[in-house]
Amino acid sequence: MAVRRNEARAGGLAWSWRGALAAALLAGAAMDCLADAARAPVEQNPRRGDPAAIAAGQAAFNANCARCHGVDAAAFPAGGPDLRRLDAYCRKLDPGPLRETCRRDNDAYFLESVLLGKKRVGIEHMPAWDGVLPRDEIWAIRSWLETRGR
Ligand code: HEC
Repeated sequence: MAVRRNEARAGGLAWSWRGALAAALLAGAAMDCLADAARAPVEQNPRRGDPAAIAAGQAAFNANCARCHGVDAAAFPAGGPDLRRLDAYCRKLDPGPLRETCRRDNDAYFLESVLLGKKRVGIEHMPAWDGVLPRDEIWAIRSWLETRGR
């Protein structure tokens, strides 16, 4: 019995070593991701203010997003947030570099939200659109939403 207990302990030790190794590898991977994120240029809306994009964006929004974020982003039938408010803080800033940085941050947040969708504690609140909507159409939606800002 004593021997078995020791074996079990030895087994436990082996597992915890493996756990520690896995944790170290994960931490390393996380650091690499952070380093990559710091290096990656932030993608900005390339179609801001483009009338063709604004028109296409409204159509794409109403076809894909309206069931949760409301027709013309003006009502919230399935509890999606009010997307007209996304740049509310930026609009309060004086026109200039700080406001532009604010918008760029929101471009990045918007793109990430749409590509990855929204999941909380494993429950999907919004589907991922990566591979569903072309990037150009996602930016068109953002261009249109920017004209709806309030
Ligand atoms: C099935 C419902 C649903 C659909 C369809 C949907 N969304 Fe969402 N979306 C949500 C919900 C719910 C949230 C809030 C989730 C959260 O914060 O956890 C959200 C959050 C967002 C956010 C972040 C907003 C913020 O203030 O943080 C953006 C941006 C967004 N959606 C854009 C879109 C776009 C663009 C489309 C269409 C391509 C779309 N969504 C389609 C349900 C949906």
